[in-house]
Formats: sequence, C-alpha cells, structure tokens
Amino acid sequence: MENGADFLGRGLAMTTPHPLGERIEKAEGSWLITDQGERLFDLVSGIGVSSLGHGHPAIAAALHAQIDRHLHVMVYGEYAQKAQDQAAEALLGTLRPHGLDAVYFVNSGAEAIDGAMKLARRVTGRTEIFGMTGGYHGGTMGSLSLSTPSHRRNAFLPLLPEVAHLPFGHVEALQQVTDRTAAVFVETVQGDAGIRPMSAGFARALRDRCNETGTLLVLDEIQCGLGRTGYFHAFEAAGIVPDVLVLGKALGGGMPMGAFVARQAYMLTLRESPKLGHITTFGGHPMACAACAAFLTALKGVDLAGVRAQGERWKAALSAHPVVQEVRGSGHFLGVDLDGPERVSALVAAARRHGLVLFWFLSRPQGFRLAPPLNASQEEMEAALKGLLSALDEIGN
Ligand SMILES: Cc1ncc(COP(=O)(O)O)c(C=O)c1O
Repeated sequence: MENGADFLGRGLAMTTPHPLGERIEKAEGSWLITDQGERLFDLVSGIGVSSLGHGHPAIAAALHAQIDRHLHVMVYGEYAQKAQDQAAEALLGTLRPHGLDAVYFVNSGAEAIDGAMKLARRVTGRTEIFGMTGGYHGGTMGSLSLSTPSHRRNAFLPLLPEVAHLPFGHVEALQQVTDRTAAVFVETVQGDAGIRPMSAGFARALRDRCNETGTLLVLDEIQCGLGRTGYFHAFEAAGIVPDVLVLGKALGGGMPMGAFVARQAYMLTLRESPKLGHITTFGGHPMACAACAAFLTALKGVDLAGVRAQGERWKAALSAHPVVQEVRGSGHFLGVDLDGPERVSALVAAARRHGLVLFWFLSRPQGFRLAPPLNASQEEMEAALKGLLSALDEIGN
C-alpha cells in the first residue's frame, strides 16, 4: 500500500510522511488483526495505552454497562457521577498512602500536564518552571514548552515564558532550582528519549532540592506509570513521592483520558480566585471513567513481579545479541539501541514479516521501543521474543 497517498486520498491528516499504514479490522488480547486476516503481535500497545491488551472483558463490560446508564451529562465537576467516583476511588486507593488524595480527570496526557502547570503556579504563586533535557510531555503549547529536543520546539516559538530545561540526571544542575521555581516536571522514566529511568541518586537529590526550595516536584508517569515498568507507580522504584502525579495513556483502559493527582489542599486552589482554575467539557467523561475503573481494578490483579521478571529475561536475551548495542528499562518498558536509524527501520520491517509490531522513538533514532501488554501470556511472550531475535539475526547479516 502507498501509505502517504492512501492517507491523503482519504482526507485524513497525516502526521508523518511514512505512517505504518496497517489497516486494522479488529484487535483482541495482545493481537491486532488486519483486513487481510493477518494476526500481528502488539509489541507497543498503541504506545503504552492497551496495557491489558485489546478488548479486555472487564473493560468491555464496564463500557457496555455505562452506555446503557448515560454518556455525557454536564461539563466537568457539576454533577456527581458514579463512574467518576469509581475511577477516582480505584486510583486514589493506590495513592492516598503517599499523601495524594485528590484527582482532576481530563481528556489527554497533554491536558493533564497543562493542568499541572497551572496548579503549580497557583499553589506556589511562582512562575518559573523546569523540564528536563530529553523530556516529552505532549503537543499542546504548555506541554510542548516543557518538552525537548529544541528542533521539535523551535518551529513553534515563542512558547511559554519562564520555562527552561535542566540536564536530565545531573545532580549539580539542580542548584538552578530556587525559591523562584514553581515546579520541576520530569518523567520518572523518560519514554520518547529511549526509555531512560531516573537514577535513584538523581531522584533523591531532586526530591531534596524541591523540598529545600518549596518547589513542586511533578512526575509525568503518563507513559511509564500504571504497571508498565513492573511497578504500579514508577516512582515506587525511584524511591521518591511526587507532589503532583500526572497520568494518561493506559489510565483510560483504551479510552481517551488523563489525570493530575495531588493533595486536596493543593487541588482546592483551582476552585478560588478565580474559580474554575481549570475547566473542561469532556474531562472525566463517564465512558472513560467506567473503563478506567475497570482497568485499574484488573491491573491490581496483574502479577507485577512476573512483569519485572519477564523484562529481565528479555533484557538478557536481547543484550546478548550481537546487533544490539544497549537495552534500558524494566518490566514491559524497554528501549533497545542498534547502530543507527537505518538498522532500526530494517528491523521494524523484518519484525513485521515475523508478525510483530515494533515502533520507533520520537527522539532516539537509533532505538526502538518494546511495550507489550502486561497480561500477554508466557507462551505469547516467548514466541514474540523468538521472532524478534530471528528478525535481529536477519538484519545482522
Ligand atoms: C511521558 C508523556 N507525557 C505526555 C504525553 C502526552 O500525552 P497525550 O498524547 O495523551 O497528550 C506523552 C505522549 O506520548 C508522553 O509519553
């Protein structure tokens, strides 16, 4: 299929000149099924969204039940809705022990980041905000301001004032965080920079510096959170607790949804002077919330120690392959480097011939991502690893 021509011919916006262009008819479990009836194993989960696979029975049942109850009834925050209560309870049950007891549901990861930026300004009365080099936080003007690399941002300048970037992982640079800084935003594990976890030492130093200066530490776990790393929340492995946690992607169980979570005293600042500090029509949509509650409940039953063990097995097997230069990450969230972008593109094509879907990173052209569903069976994962190693053999010759 001529990918580009086909997208334009159908009047759809193209986001790159070379989309994957698969025609997907159906998806079930860890599998995508094309219009030709071909079954493809999903090694990317729609970029970290379908964390319990496709068509999970509990999520599907919750959605069917909610359709019969009601769809949209009012803009966010005016009516009490059971689905929102259930989603909030399912999420906050995991976060209250960390002092995070209020959630604001929105429509996407980027909107959640923008909401968290506003919250940080409101809570601290300060305007300066730091992101990190390598960080990716979304495509809105606020979240793009926090993101790097510069070539992605520069085409859209001017972005938000008083937003700058600290070098990821450099403890000395944290001295730039001062009592003028409202917040530091960082991904607990950088996703689109190639799956790069914060070291425990950097995480501790960052937490300490934010405490010293009264700066909010905002962890973006939109991609790395909710079981992906083999921990329910990625910050558990980093050994720190954020002031604000931002979630998205898998949160909605396949429905569009984002959230920012903080202690209630902080969240109440959005209610006054002026009220409606953040406002959204569709945030907390009942269908998204119903799927979210079902997803979180099902996630609590997933063997996360098994996900971590599986990740270690894959890391060992891939690291031993002569074409592989480096493997980073944990659980079902791995970044693999080859010797350059051409080799990665060759691998994506070779893996496709083995019925495996792979995908690139935005900011690490020599790498590819692995983020299969957390509940893929042992047999499926073994078969996928075998296929991937064969594809690596093929491009190595
Ligand atoms: C870490 C991180 N933050 C924020 C976002 C933006 O989320 P969304 O695309 O839902 O706006 C993404 C999306 O890839 C992401 O990976």
